[in-house]
Amino acid sequence: MSVSTDSLFQPFSLGPLELPNRVVMAPMTRTYSPGNVPNDLNVEYYRKRAAGGVGLIITEGTCVGHAAANGYPNVPFFYGEKPLAGWKKVVDAVHAEGGKIFPQLWHVGSVRRAGTEPDPDVPGHGPSGLVMPGKKRCHEMTEDDIQDVIKAFAQAAKDAMDIGCDGVEIHGAHGYLIDQFFWEGLNERSDHWGGSIEKRANFAVEIIKAVRAATAPDFPICLRFSQWKQQDYSIKLANNPEELERFLKPLSDAGVDIFHCSTRRFWEPEFEGSDLNLAGWTKKITGKPVITVGSVGLDRAFSEPGQVEFLEGKIAKLDTLIERLEKDEFDLVAVGRALIANPDWAKQVRESAFDDLAAYVPEMLKELV
Ligand code: FNR
Repeated sequence: MSVSTDSLFQPFSLGPLELPNRVVMAPMTRTYSPGNVPNDLNVEYYRKRAAGGVGLIITEGTCVGHAAANGYPNVPFFYGEKPLAGWKKVVDAVHAEGGKIFPQLWHVGSVRRAGTEPDPDVPGHGPSGLVMPGKKRCHEMTEDDIQDVIKAFAQAAKDAMDIGCDGVEIHGAHGYLIDQFFWEGLNERSDHWGGSIEKRANFAVEIIKAVRAATAPDFPICLRFSQWKQQDYSIKLANNPEELERFLKPLSDAGVDIFHCSTRRFWEPEFEGSDLNLAGWTKKITGKPVITVGSVGLDRAFSEPGQVEFLEGKIAKLDTLIERLEKDEFDLVAVGRALIANPDWAKQVRESAFDDLAAYVPEMLKELV
């Protein structure tokens, strides 16, 4: 490392929230909550990352209270007495270590396959019933369905505030429900919820407004979005900065406090003609704080299935990350897999204990530690 890591460890204010540093734990689904209730293992997993110096934890995706919100086994829910009591234990443990925490509120939409909790018979729900462009295989959402989901996000955010969470992240990324509304190929609606890029953002806009109304004027709301979709990595939400601006402006105006801009390699320019990444463009367009993410602290980069880009060691690109943070291209840095491998990643990096860092390998997902 040729540069100091100090700037990663400068405090940051997000409205009323004082973060001790710029390191964020990226949301990662782990499916270790049988019965959809966070348990002692989940409490310990998050507690350790807070004790390891992460400034802000964003939890794994946790389902809002709607019958079609979930798509995977053993995902923790964010509604009902038991799941919320389980989450409260997580929140209290994180706070006891001096950490901050946002739940990532999730609805999978058309990705849901019949057979998952809470009711195996409920089909996937999508804006136009499409699971892929041209493939109509799930339930096309009615106006009532849309209103129910908006209410479910608002209720989850209120519950988050009531159990002491420091804010919420709305999962609008990676081809799940909110992103299905953003995605032209899956949203063929011609009503209020579909059409132009601005209109495709309307569902998220109404969710953000409802979340704001159900919480408090200064309760931090983060929106995570991505260009890529898990169903097709090549899809782009916005092809140029002008389109990105048309998309982001209504969301920013609706009350998003911070955007979490999901990319798989933070160093890649988003559009031709500028080095700015997605987070950099989002900050430039909206003037709001942004979180960047993507292969921080890894020795191989997240790539297309079957393709691996080898980096030069676990702290490869950390110099670039810090230089760009210092230039204010982004405000916070989310770390995913490196934090699975190293619960103390933030502390270790702060102390320059780079040799002690473990390299992430996918086998690490086989247990929750
Ligand atoms: C993820 N990711 C993810 N993203 C999200 O928004 N909600 C989620 O629940 C999950 N789940 C998830 C599980 C696992 C096992 C991985 C590895 C990833 C994506 C994650 O937040 C992050 O954007 C990527 O992993 C890229 O960051 P890293 O891992 O390269 O630092």
